[in-house]
Amino acid sequence: MTPIQDCIKNKNTNLNPIWIMRQAGRYLPEFREIRAKNTDFIKLCLNESLSTEITLQPIRRFDFDAAIIFSDILMLPFGLGQEVKFEKGLGPKLGELNLDLIENVSKDEFTKKLNPIYKSISNISTNTICKNKDVIGFVGAPWTILVYMINKMSPKKNLTKEIFKDKLLTRKLLSIIEKFLKIHIENQIKAGATLIQIFDSWAGLLENNILEFIYEPTLNLVNHVKKLNVPVICFPRGIKDYKSYCDFVKPNMVNIDYNVDPKKIVNEIQIPIQGGLDPKVLLTDKENLHRETIKYLQIFKDHPYVFNLGHGILPETKIEMVEELVKTIRGFK
Ligand code: CP3
Repeated sequence: MTPIQDCIKNKNTNLNPIWIMRQAGRYLPEFREIRAKNTDFIKLCLNESLSTEITLQPIRRFDFDAAIIFSDILMLPFGLGQEVKFEKGLGPKLGELNLDLIENVSKDEFTKKLNPIYKSISNISTNTICKNKDVIGFVGAPWTILVYMINKMSPKKNLTKEIFKDKLLTRKLLSIIEKFLKIHIENQIKAGATLIQIFDSWAGLLENNILEFIYEPTLNLVNHVKKLNVPVICFPRGIKDYKSYCDFVKPNMVNIDYNVDPKKIVNEIQIPIQGGLDPKVLLTDKENLHRETIKYLQIFKDHPYVFNLGHGILPETKIEMVEELVKTIRGFK
């Protein structure tokens, strides 16, 4: 059994497993080299051999306990036929949303379009370097995908009102998103993913209607993953009440963001916990990094805990700081 599965299923607290959100990405010079030659990000995600290579890069360097497939949560709208582009410095930009077209996309059509992702998962899960490691498949949560598809870019503060203007459209779109997220999850598991993480990056934006837009659709996905016999990790970034979220959604593990007080949450939540460390700590110095890392390890010493960050690793992070982080965790007894 892999260290992460042992932590989740057997509540083993001795292994201190680690992986890092956005571990396959821009802080790695070997990624930047590939990226410089491949200006179209979506095409890169759909390049089976390069996405396999990028996924393995952080494993070779740091021997993390899990490989997370190099892809993006916005491959879902792409698979549904909405244009998705990444412009330098601007983040994602999505094209016009055409509900009539999206409604008529078939499961086969969608699966065919995203097939290179599944092939790459299959390559990774059979690679010997991933022996005794998890292969993490992932999706965006329905709410976060809805936000990107309607807002067509990173959301502004007044976004939610905009989304609720046309309730019929919103509900219809949400149910289509949910349907295809389930398909995408199933395809990733069939290809060899041993864990699924659900990223709800904009969970913190919503103040009302949390039940309808976050709790219920996420619970549906969580139940879907559980039925396929794979553990599921949820990351409701910025949500006010992690405890209520966990009580309702019941993931196998929850990733906390860096604004969550670890001392408080460890007493409130019984399920395994992942993450928490502020990625900005990796931009300070080794001494501070060491101290902050030990703080999390100490607090979660007797709680099933997988080390990770409270959001994705920042592109300007130095390799030697990641090495220091891994050394601290591996050496903690
Ligand atoms: O974690 C990994 O290493 C696996 C790959 C991965 C990427 N995106 C690759 C990526 C994962 C798990 C994601 C998830 C993702 N994508 C989220 C949820 C997590 C979070 O950060 O909140 C979100 C909101 C997105 C959407 C997205 N993709 C944004 C907002 C951006 C642009 C801003 C940014 O951080 O770069 C992307 C692009 C993206 N996705 C890059 C990578 C490596 C950078 C691409 C580049 O080189 O320009």
